[in-house]
Amino acid sequence: MTIASETVSLEFKETLAIEAKGLTKKFGNFIAVDHIDLEIKTGENFGLLGPNGAGKTTTIRMITGVIKPTEGIVRVFGIDVMRHRKRVLRLIGYMPQRFSLYEDLTVEENLRLYGRLQGLSGNLLEERISNSLDRFYLREFRSRLAGKLSGGTKQRLALAVALVHNPKLLILDEPTAGVDPPLRRMFWEHFRELNKEGKTILVTTHYMDEAENCDRLALMNRGKIIAMGTPKEIKRKAMGGDLIELSVDGEIVPENLPGVISVHEISDERIVLVVDDASLRLPDIVKAVESSGGKVRMAAPVHVSLEEAFIKFMGE
Ligand SMILES: Nc1ncnc2c1ncn2[C@@H]1O[C@H](COP(=O)(O)OP(=O)(O)OP(=O)(O)O)[C@@H](O)[C@H]1O
Ligand SMILES: [Mg+2]
Repeated sequence: MTIASETVSLEFKETLAIEAKGLTKKFGNFIAVDHIDLEIKTGENFGLLGPNGAGKTTTIRMITGVIKPTEGIVRVFGIDVMRHRKRVLRLIGYMPQRFSLYEDLTVEENLRLYGRLQGLSGNLLEERISNSLDRFYLREFRSRLAGKLSGGTKQRLALAVALVHNPKLLILDEPTAGVDPPLRRMFWEHFRELNKEGKTILVTTHYMDEAENCDRLALMNRGKIIAMGTPKEIKRKAMGGDLIELSVDGEIVPENLPGVISVHEISDERIVLVVDDASLRLPDIVKAVESSGGKVRMAAPVHVSLEEAFIKFMGE
């Protein structure tokens, strides 16, 4: 009986690209990552966000096996990272936050070196190099030293290097730092394509517009995960619900309107309500105001930005 239940739980875990439980890293007395739990599903685009020093890179370095956790466990596709580092490395494409390319090697030589390190050789290696040069518009730079590339082209090469062995899981630590808007867009279009191919992506960024593109997000602060969910869920959690803006002629008791959880803001001009579901409640609220003799001048859902949601969480 035990065997049967173990089989079931193993099968379940294999659908997870990354699983961390109680993952902790201490540097001396300082706790950089403090008992975090993560479950990232295969094929997901998962964003790890948080201010400088929150512990994002340290978390990533434990997932990739670069550093050893002080406590807790981490598995990649069900494989224990600490026990099977080499096996896990083959499954991961890792783009570190700091420049990791060999500056005195050319673009092509960097691709070849990293390809070899990942166990590629012969025709397959050459095919992958050629493919990377085309996919990331690097062919014209193939003979240039990596150290002589512009910032954006270096980032393109770093991404190409991370992908050279066609990994199932991509871990990207601020891939778009110092990258101009058109190239940032190109990167994200590329990430979406990779997701469609079934690859899993764990990405960190300080750009909130990028984070909106993630399937799910975790917000880290001082080594802890303080919020997790889809961008929509995170905004809801931060505000305690959806926001509706209302401008009304006549007397109303906002708290008594349908679906109202609380009053977010009130002035002579407008009322901002927190409701359980904006799209569902908007017509009900308009009806309720009108049936009590009031006149609705304006009623609309309020767009909450991720930035606002995060500031709210950080404030708490
Ligand atoms: N090797 C180390 N020795 C001591 N302290 C470290 C070490 N690595 C990281 N830290 C500390 O751990 C904390 C978390 O650092 P980490 O690099 O994980 O943050 P981050 O969220 O990636 O920040 P950023 O957005 O700036 O990249 C920081 O206070 C950092 O100084
Ligand atoms: Mg970092």
